[in-house]
Amino acid sequence: MEYIDLRSDTVTWPTPAMREAMAATPVGDDVYGEDPTINRLEALAAERFGKAAGLFVASGTMGNVVSILATCQRGDEIITGNSSHIFLNEAGNPAVLGGVHTWPVPVEADGTLSLDAIEAAIRADDQHYPRTRLVCLENTHASSGGQPLPLSYVDAVGELCRKHDLALHIDGARIFNAAVATGVDVARLSQAATSVTFCLSKGLCAPVGSVIVGDEAFIQQARRIRKALGGGMRQAGIVAAAGIVALDEMTSRLAEDHANACRLAKGLATIPAIEINVGAVKTNILYFNLRDDAPRSPAELADELKTDGILIKGAYHQRRFRLVTHFWIKSSHVDLVVDRMRSLLE
Ligand SMILES: Cc1ncc(COP(=O)(O)O)c(C=O)c1O
Repeated sequence: MEYIDLRSDTVTWPTPAMREAMAATPVGDDVYGEDPTINRLEALAAERFGKAAGLFVASGTMGNVVSILATCQRGDEIITGNSSHIFLNEAGNPAVLGGVHTWPVPVEADGTLSLDAIEAAIRADDQHYPRTRLVCLENTHASSGGQPLPLSYVDAVGELCRKHDLALHIDGARIFNAAVATGVDVARLSQAATSVTFCLSKGLCAPVGSVIVGDEAFIQQARRIRKALGGGMRQAGIVAAAGIVALDEMTSRLAEDHANACRLAKGLATIPAIEINVGAVKTNILYFNLRDDAPRSPAELADELKTDGILIKGAYHQRRFRLVTHFWIKSSHVDLVVDRMRSLLE
C-alpha cells in the first residue's frame, strides 16, 4: 500500500495469491448456476458456517438487505441496534426497498442490545402495529469499537427469538474477527441465527463480495431477491476466486491485526493529548478522542499525518477518530504512527 491507511479495513487490497487465483479461475454464467468458482465459494462458506447453503452477493449492504427482504414482508418490522450499520449506514434500505419498518434499540458499550430492550420492542399482535419479524445483531459491532458478541449472549438472543417465533440475522461483516477474539468458531457463533452475512472484502482482503448463509429455502428466496435487485453477476467467479483465498488463507491471521490494534492503542495512550480506553480494544477497531487542549485541531492532525503518508478518519466536530488495523498494516507501521502522532501532539 502506498499509504499507511488506517481509515478502515475496507481499503485493503487483494493479496498476490488472490490476484493469481483470479487470473486462473474457471468461470461460467452464475445466473444459470454454472460458475464453478462461485459454486465452490458458496459451498465452502455454507460448510464453514454449518448452514445448508450460501449465496455470493456484491457487498455487505446487499447481503443484509437481501437477508431482510428474504425474511420479511411489507408491513413487517425488524429490531436492530440504534448504532448498527443496518440502521445508520445502509440508506434505509429495508424501508426503501421492502416496506419494512425498523425499531432501533440502544446499543450497549459492549455492542449488545439488552435482552430486555429486545423483548420490550417486540410488538403485540394488534392492527395498529407493524409485525415484528426479525432481530438483527452485528458481530463484531463496528461503531462500538469492533466489540465481539459473546457466544452466551448470541445464544440467549436466539432463545428469545425462538420463544417469540422471530428470525435472527447476524450482520457478520467481521464475524471472523469475533471468532478469533472469542475463541469460538463461526459455525458455533452463528448457530442461533437463521441467516448470516459475512464480508470477504474487509479484513479478509478480497476486492469485492460478501456471502449470505442460511437454510436451503431461505437461500432460494434470497437468490430470487438478489436477482430482483440486479445482483445476478454472471462470470463473477473471477472475484469469487479471491473470496476462496480469503476463506482459506486470511481468517486465521486476524489475531495479528488485533495484536497490532492493541499495541497501537497502548502506544496512543502514552500521548497526553489523546484519550483512549485501551481495555475496550478487542479486535481490529479502535476509537480515540483528541483532548480540547491538544496542540493541533483534529483536521490539522489528519492533514499533517496525510502529508507523512498516514491516513486516519475522524468525526472532527466530536474530536473523535477511528483507526482500523488490517493485513496491510504491519507492526513497524504501528511504531511509526505512534511516533509521528507523539511528535505532532506533544
Ligand atoms: C458492520 C458492517 N456491516 C455491513 C457493512 C457493509 O458492507 P459493504 O461496505 O460491503 O456494503 C459494513 C461496512 O463497513 C460494516 O462495517
